[in-house]
Amino acid sequence: MAATISFKLNGERVRLEADENRKLLWVLRTELEQTGTKYGCGRGSCGACVVLVNDNPIRSCMADVGSVRGKEVLTIEGLAKGDELHPLQKAFIEHDALQCGFCTPGMILSAYGLLRSTRKPSRGEIIKRMDRNLCRCGAHTRIIDAIESAAAELPNGKSAT
Ligand code: FES
Ligand code: FES
Repeated sequence: MAATISFKLNGERVRLEADENRKLLWVLRTELEQTGTKYGCGRGSCGACVVLVNDNPIRSCMADVGSVRGKEVLTIEGLAKGDELHPLQKAFIEHDALQCGFCTPGMILSAYGLLRSTRKPSRGEIIKRMDRNLCRCGAHTRIIDAIESAAAELPNGKSAT
């Protein structure tokens, strides 16, 4: 059913008319032009569409847009501070942790969610958390290296922002 839905997207208030059951992924990509959020499997299996909702990574292909009403949504477009990339983004570049880049936004946001909840995850914790994010190019080892390096870079006691 069409309704007025408002939420915060990358720190800015957005308000739109949409079917509450329309998937957040398509609202982000189509109505709000946040095309960094990718469509992979469309059934919650690959992680290409991960965004953060109130700091929790969710699969936007499975979430109704009505479920984020009044909440804070973070997409890859909102992670850098102006021209300054987030340490995770820098680490992905430094470790060559991408090939086609299709899985990268979901990888980085899943890792960001991990670092928000666990400041210094062990390599095993990183591997466990990232297990459900798939990379068809096979960059997994370099992705884990990049996340480990970004976690080491962030000062103790600070959040991952
Ligand atoms: S597109 Fe959402 S999990 Fe694959
Ligand atoms: S870099 Fe191509 S799917 Fe991961």
